Amino acid sequence: MQRLHNFSAGPAVLPEPVLSAAREHLLSLGETGIGVLEHSHRGPAFGEVLSSAEGRIRRLASIPNDVAVLFLQGGASLQFAMVPANLRPATATADYMISGTWSLKAMEAAQSDGAVHVASSSQNSSFRELPGPPQCSSTPAYLHYTSNNTIAGTQFSTPPTPPNGVPLVCDASSDIFSRPLDLDAHDLVYAGAQKNLGPAGLTLVLIRRTLLERCPDSIPRISRYVTHADSGSLYNTPPVFSIFVTDLVLKWLEDQGGLSAIAERNRGQASRLYDRIDASRVLSGRVAFSARSLMNVVFSAGSDEADARFLEHCRRAGLVGLKGHRSVGGLRASLYNAQPDAAVDRLLEVIDAFEAEQAQ
Ligand SMILES: Cc1ncc(COP(=O)(O)O)c(C=O)c1O
Repeated sequence: MQRLHNFSAGPAVLPEPVLSAAREHLLSLGETGIGVLEHSHRGPAFGEVLSSAEGRIRRLASIPNDVAVLFLQGGASLQFAMVPANLRPATATADYMISGTWSLKAMEAAQSDGAVHVASSSQNSSFRELPGPPQCSSTPAYLHYTSNNTIAGTQFSTPPTPPNGVPLVCDASSDIFSRPLDLDAHDLVYAGAQKNLGPAGLTLVLIRRTLLERCPDSIPRISRYVTHADSGSLYNTPPVFSIFVTDLVLKWLEDQGGLSAIAERNRGQASRLYDRIDASRVLSGRVAFSARSLMNVVFSAGSDEADARFLEHCRRAGLVGLKGHRSVGGLRASLYNAQPDAAVDRLLEVIDAFEAEQAQ
């Protein structure tokens, strides 16, 4: 079966060598004689997988020892609730920068049981731009932002600056490890694995250990970050297969030369596509130049009907997953780490063919 080029926003394309290796380990993890899905999460074989994944994460992103690495479940959506439950005392406010659907959802989750504050928002521009610098409340427990807006197609090039002493929390679900991560600027970073890290089912949380002291006893034990930090992410059965495949992806990332090297490749792919769209007579990008995401290129052929014809060209050329999110419509090409250059080459050829057809 020939594999297609997958531009889906997530779950998304994974490196082929990773998929092949995962297949081998299904029958026997290394020389253990038991498949990776069959090992106890408390046994030595999985223990090695877990510590290997943590080690690679720490080395790739130069994560200091005062930051705990947690392997959780529940997706980024559970983090929307865990962040305020753990970090916001009853007397404080949770501050949010609103840059798209996901940051709105994050704030909504915090709103259900405490005070929130919109520190800045680009909703007025339908999220075609990034929000301005944050104007925090007088009692911020933290400032939350979404580094890459998967649906709108925008991305922060540098983290925002919170007031002195206010922890910065980042939902990095759609650009984690697509470029170097500045852990000095952040106090908590979370991401669902299913775009740049591995399969769905795993949520990575990087949290400064001083924040663990804030986790209140009044919330269920399983919802407290400190529970997972104290038990080495083994409080309950972790998503063993997702962690295993993520470790393979992290190894692949190391083999690519690490985060700076992958960032360079990601920049190259995105520039080629944006340049082609800019030069096109029939396609146009959705967002402001300065806000463009290197992960999710959102564009349109001008009408629903023209977008549908473009998608048909893609389908015939073996390119899938380019339909825009239903809330914004249009087209979207997701260029996560594992996207091969060949997929972008093919997409550019499709654009040429589509333009030629439109000109007739
Ligand atoms: C930026 C961002 N945050 C959060 C989510 C929600 O993630 P999950 O489905 O893992 O809860 C997504 C999903 O695409 C996302 O792109």
